[in-house]
Amino acid sequence: MAETDIKKGLAGVVVDTTAVSKVNPETNSLLYRGYPVQELAASCSFEQVALLLWNGELPSDDELAEFTAFERAHRALSPELKQVIDALPDTCHPMDVCRTAASVLGAQDPTAEHSSKEANLAKAKSLLAAMPAVVAYDQRRRRGQELVEPREDLGYSANFLWMTFGEEAAQPVVDAFNVSMILYAEHSFNASTFTARVITSTLSDLHSAVVGAIGALKGPLHGGANEAVMHTFDEIGIRQEETAEEAEARAKAWMDDALAQKKKVMGFGHRVYKNGDSRVPTMKAALDAMIEHYDRPEVLGLYNGLEKSMGEAKNIKPNLDYPAGPAYHLMGFDTPTFTPLFVASRISGWTAHIMEQLEANALIRPLSEYNGPDERHLS
Ligand code: SDX
Repeated sequence: MAETDIKKGLAGVVVDTTAVSKVNPETNSLLYRGYPVQELAASCSFEQVALLLWNGELPSDDELAEFTAFERAHRALSPELKQVIDALPDTCHPMDVCRTAASVLGAQDPTAEHSSKEANLAKAKSLLAAMPAVVAYDQRRRRGQELVEPREDLGYSANFLWMTFGEEAAQPVVDAFNVSMILYAEHSFNASTFTARVITSTLSDLHSAVVGAIGALKGPLHGGANEAVMHTFDEIGIRQEETAEEAEARAKAWMDDALAQKKKVMGFGHRVYKNGDSRVPTMKAALDAMIEHYDRPEVLGLYNGLEKSMGEAKNIKPNLDYPAGPAYHLMGFDTPTFTPLFVASRISGWTAHIMEQLEANALIRPLSEYNGPDERHLS
């Protein structure tokens, strides 16, 4: 039998069109509905970008006001969902809490089985509004802290930080967090988004597709990489008394050793971008702002040491998770909370793709080439 040209991991395979975003490795660029993501990160709120991804256009002032009012009114963690989260052991991963919460929110939603564009857009908005309280409360309960109720006078990012830390974050921190939410929002047919589209292609519901996407994002080859980056920094050791140069030297030695052992170092490389992730410069600037705000030059040393060593040894560039991890650490998030932050943001992109998949749907069902035993019989 002629050997079929199998594309493992669907690498390089174009399986459908999308108008949501354009990832272009040739120009090292990322467009959300045609807008360069760097421009959006520099001048928009995450709320505006979510509406752009869903509707295809940036919102008018009235549209933004209407969504903002809805989002702020639907942030609170319901007593029932809090009860479910409290029943989950501290030993489970925070991504399991996100996955469970998305499932509970679907089960509680009377419109869960409604599949119109309007119904799915409403569900997307509700999920986006509800997830920050889940992520914030889960970190607090693991620290033995009480739930902090949302504040309707704060924007999405400022309120997310308020619910997590119980105090108003400084503006530079809010700005850096907002940039990270915009950069994490959408990235065409990545593994978790494609998972959501596969589930949607069977005409299953939006919440089921998001639950599946959360499961896919958890893996360290995908969204879990931002948490893994922090494990690398912790393994090298963050020493606040060190100079950037001293930290850089230790980080370089760690990476040289890791690569000598053929280790895969999370936060580097990308399936699509082969000359660097288009989002890294913008997220690195946000990290630099956090390093300056908290006066932590040794973190920059570690960042530079790892990047230089990987670049010299394998010419592999960082991806978005690499600057995002230390930035979230400096903001005060616990490491296992990092990928749930990615979930909160990517709900916007996932649900935009779910609605697009339904518009011109085709069941996603690829072929496989059998390589098991030849036909045989019981007697
Ligand atoms: C995200 O798809 C998306 O858009 C995802 C994402 C999004 O926004 O949704 O951008 C978010 O998931 C970013 C990626 C986060 N993952 C990581 O940081 C995990 C570490 N990276 C690698 O596992 C890897 O780079 C992948 C999985 C991201 C991409 O892998 P590919 O395209 O399948 O390439 P590969 O693993 O076959 O590597 C090619 C070569 C190999 O060398 P050889 O074995 O051929 O000698 O590059 C090497 C790899 O060993 N390599 C690495 C490496 N990444 C690639 N070596 C060490 N460390 C790494 N991180």
